[in-house]
Amino acid sequence: MSEKPIILAELEQAQQKALALLAEIQDEEPLQAWKREYLGKASTVMSAFSSIGGQPKEFRPLVGQVANQVKQALEAALEQRARIVTEAALTRKIADERVDVTLPGRQPISGGLHPQTLVLRRIFAIFAEMGFQVYRSRDVESDEYNFELLNIPAHHPARDMWDTFHIDQPGVVLRTHTSPGQIRVMREQAPNPIRVILPGMCYRYEQISSRSEIQFNQVEVLAVGKNITFGDMKGTLNGFVRRLFNADVRTRLRPSYFPFTEPSAEMDVECFVCGGKGCSVCKGSGWLEIMGCGIVHPTVLKNGGYDPEVYSGFAAGMGPERISMLLHKIEDIRYFWGNDARFLEQF
Ligand code: PHE
Repeated sequence: MSEKPIILAELEQAQQKALALLAEIQDEEPLQAWKREYLGKASTVMSAFSSIGGQPKEFRPLVGQVANQVKQALEAALEQRARIVTEAALTRKIADERVDVTLPGRQPISGGLHPQTLVLRRIFAIFAEMGFQVYRSRDVESDEYNFELLNIPAHHPARDMWDTFHIDQPGVVLRTHTSPGQIRVMREQAPNPIRVILPGMCYRYEQISSRSEIQFNQVEVLAVGKNITFGDMKGTLNGFVRRLFNADVRTRLRPSYFPFTEPSAEMDVECFVCGGKGCSVCKGSGWLEIMGCGIVHPTVLKNGGYDPEVYSGFAAGMGPERISMLLHKIEDIRYFWGNDARFLEQF
């Protein structure tokens, strides 16, 4: 009978050593190294299998059996350890990346609408209720539309009412008011009736002050049709002013002059700061001027393509910055386009 093969003792030693080392392992990397060492090609277990053919015949089954047991034991232990290692890694990751849900969140920065956008929308809404559509005209105009077709010929002294931005190209101006839009709508619509408002930026080459800017909004009002009277104008503008300010504010029309309306007027509203008694806002008069208006001049109707014998109309023009200033008691018009967030945030 041959001696017991030495490999049997080696297997037992290898198993003990491997299991002892495995019990210490905490991380994935040493775990893989352990696997290569004790279950890899060069490991004792694997060489035991390849040694079987060289063993004495009567021990071959025994070597095979023991090698198998050791292999299974190591594999089972590895699997168990691997689970512990993965779980520990997960626990560590959760602890490291812990989210403190009790911290206050970050406030999203939300913008707001510009005070002029807000007041324009109010104006649009009020006129929409009375059947007026918004018509957008252009900011860059020709001298012809801005002045001539509005009954203001070259060299007419009335041109002094609007200090104008000209550009290098002759005959091209930045519109000084929204009135040239009247001609554009009329030429587009003639001979249909018109009920529109024309909002937009106007530009004047003026000394900037707390009362005037080189750039500002206007809203033009235009109604053209048959039998439109001064009374229609008064009723429409009164209706607008009462919805905008308050239901029982008093208004008055003062005679005025514009080349494109005849007769012309200025509409004043009773000062809502002092109720008409006189204060610093109304400069003691008890009245606040809010728009120019009048019956469309026959020449302007003709220029727009309407026969003044058949059609008539009224027009008005207001400055929404002025209206905002009155509504919010803002003392300087320059705040609107000065881009100061401290002002803009208040609306
Ligand atoms: N366009 C005039 C201005 O800018 C205002 C106005 C418009 C007056 C319509 C009468 C009719 O001052």
